Amino acid sequence: MSTTSCSTLDWAKVDLSRWPEIIVPPPGPKSDEYHRRCTKYFKGLSGQVKLFPVAFESGKGCTLVDVDGNRYIDFSSGIYVTTLGHCHPKISEAVAKYAKQLMNAHDFTTPIKMKLVEKLAEILPGDLNGFQFYDSGTTAVEAGMRVMRATSGRNEMLSCYYDFHGKTYGSVSLAQIRSQIYGRVRAPGSHMVPRPDVYRPMWTNDDGTIDTDSYLAFYDEYINKATVGDVAGFVLEPIQGWGGSIMPPDDFFPKLRRYCDEKGILLMADEVLTGWGRTGKWLCMEHWGVVPDVVTLGKGFGNGFPVTCVAVREPHKESFEKISASSSYGGNPMACAAALASTEVIEEENLLEYCAELGAHCTKTLNEMKDRHPIIGDVRCRGALMGIELVKDRQTKEPFNAAGEFVYQHAFRNGLAWIPAGHILRMSPPIVMDFDTATKGLELIEEAIGAAEKELT
Ligand SMILES: Cc1ncc(COP(=O)(O)O)c(C=O)c1O
Repeated sequence: MSTTSCSTLDWAKVDLSRWPEIIVPPPGPKSDEYHRRCTKYFKGLSGQVKLFPVAFESGKGCTLVDVDGNRYIDFSSGIYVTTLGHCHPKISEAVAKYAKQLMNAHDFTTPIKMKLVEKLAEILPGDLNGFQFYDSGTTAVEAGMRVMRATSGRNEMLSCYYDFHGKTYGSVSLAQIRSQIYGRVRAPGSHMVPRPDVYRPMWTNDDGTIDTDSYLAFYDEYINKATVGDVAGFVLEPIQGWGGSIMPPDDFFPKLRRYCDEKGILLMADEVLTGWGRTGKWLCMEHWGVVPDVVTLGKGFGNGFPVTCVAVREPHKESFEKISASSSYGGNPMACAAALASTEVIEEENLLEYCAELGAHCTKTLNEMKDRHPIIGDVRCRGALMGIELVKDRQTKEPFNAAGEFVYQHAFRNGLAWIPAGHILRMSPPIVMDFDTATKGLELIEEAIGAAEKELT
């Protein structure tokens, strides 16, 4: 087995036979106590914490350590955030330098911001060379929509079922709304359409393959009949994250790009989750050779420091002037330093290439697992963005939610920190993970799936 690794951790000194290391069955007594005291006041936890309420103390590279001393393999990167592993020295030092030198200068120019925008203009595809920075994915998405409205002079937005774009009102209006959670009215002019899911296609060709053209034909019909003819932009995740690592067919985005050009609709790729190396490219859209008009970046962009970005193509740059684009924290020197250092680490350690190799290794292993386990309905990977869909029956594809919960908790108890989504299990290891550790993580998942099959079928 290869021990290929691009991490700056000294893997040679790590005893992989003791990794992960569970000293006390988690959540252990200290986790229990901290969690109880914290959640007396801190409310509104995510589903994944509720299912496994452990308290973390530190992280290094691809490991996480809880307050009881248990050491986990990190298959979540926070939540798709610490793409380059925890506390990469170059990134931590870059942030610390500006924490001592200059924390905030509103949107005045700083040398570090100048270097970051020059770097972004150099590496992003096409003429994506206008930028503004924010402190969360959802504020970047909101700004992206404002730019599209300012550029086009139109108002309506199209987005897709089960995509996720954040929790402020405009972003939420692009996604599935639960009235009791987010309010009762979607922002006026927000429209949703289905997107092609290869595993669960709505339209197929005679040979059973997904029929992308029918999706495009539906969009055309919908725009003609259900909008008021004032569509500014179409906002999509290149690969759905929250929706379950759902990959589009390869002809989807090139065809959608052509369609949007014909109709004068701007195309916005929300790359908050998929961008900055996660799939083995700077932008996931590069897999299909498509340059969107607007791109949002976040999560891995600062490898854990809250910094996000809206990038737009040359013709739309001046629209930033019309939208009151600046914010209190956007582009502060610590944020720019984190984003620049993360970008340089990806370049210096050849991590785009390495991520593709890691993805190929995991894809092969997961597909072999699928052959051994009937409850695995589908396996999806692009670089280090992966998902497994658990089903009760491969013919009917009925979601197996109980198995999803069981497998998540079982593997976590044995030392795998990762991300559930109902019957779909999501994996997002740091892209610096060595092959042996990735294989171990996948073995923990296979063991949990085997246990679920025994217990639940
Ligand atoms: C694709 C996508 N866009 C936007 C967001 C919102 O980002 P944030 O939580 O930083 O506001 C997320 C968060 O998960 C996301 O996955």
